[in-house]
Amino acid sequence: MKLVKTAKEMQGMANQSRKNGEIICLVPTMGALHDGHVGLITEAKKRADVTVVSIFINPTQFGRNEDLNNYPMNLDTDLAKIDDLRVDVVFNPDIGEIYPESFQTYVVVEELQGFLCGIFRPGHFRGVATVVLKLFNIVKPHIALFGEKDYQQLKIIQRMVNDLNLEVEIVGFPTVRDENGLALSSRNAYLSAEERIRAASISRALCEIKKVFDTGIRRANTIIEAGEKKLKDVGIENIDYLEICDPETLRPKELAEDGDLVAVAVRLGAARLIDNTLL
Ligand code: PAJ
Repeated sequence: MKLVKTAKEMQGMANQSRKNGEIICLVPTMGALHDGHVGLITEAKKRADVTVVSIFINPTQFGRNEDLNNYPMNLDTDLAKIDDLRVDVVFNPDIGEIYPESFQTYVVVEELQGFLCGIFRPGHFRGVATVVLKLFNIVKPHIALFGEKDYQQLKIIQRMVNDLNLEVEIVGFPTVRDENGLALSSRNAYLSAEERIRAASISRALCEIKKVFDTGIRRANTIIEAGEKKLKDVGIENIDYLEICDPETLRPKELAEDGDLVAVAVRLGAARLIDNTLL
């Protein structure tokens, strides 16, 4: 596993790999690696000659009152976690490497950022799209993998790739969960043992919503109420959203249909947690 710190070195390696006819696969991360990340990396390895994992806590995707300064960071632990996966390259640039002084160019995926997390985290997806485009230009991947846990992020990246004619294939990967159904997330580290148990009700709420939908009820509000109850039963009152949306446009719907997205974001203790499922 080679550790690369500069964009120039990474681009040089990518150019050489492409000249050799090798398929480059990128898994972008912010570190604090867990088994969700491991799932993405394992999938990447199946498709790639050269697997690159980027580890970069991207400041432009954090709001002013968010957890940038507390975000878990330990490169040695991360490298140990993926040691036996035989990743070819870990790209771990410093902030100045990605955002040099006088940096001022951003990518905005206009409509898709206007729903769900985009409403509660203004500027978040602008930061995500910008850093991901930069990573694509630096790592030059043929394929990049993203988790379905961050469904809106995945859709925004797919939109950006189509809109800007980027030659990279975007692959979504199913959400990896713990034994209680809680979606793995670096932010789960903020939860106490007791909060972690309550957090399992987030995925239970999604299951409940599916169950109610399967009984034939179609009015979104009625279906959602059943899920809300599961959250409130364990004292999760701080719900940013729990919504049924069109899976492509992310617009909220009044009547649910097969294939619609159910997306949820809650605040629990110091963590903001998201999850989703398709009906
Ligand atoms: P991060 O939260 O570190 O996630 C990196 C990748 O892992 C994302 O594609 C995310 O969707 C995926 N992922 C996270 N938890 C997962 C789980 N439980 N199961 C499957 N995949 C999971 O998402 C980001 O970083 C950043 O926004 C980034 C894309 C790197 C841009 O800075």
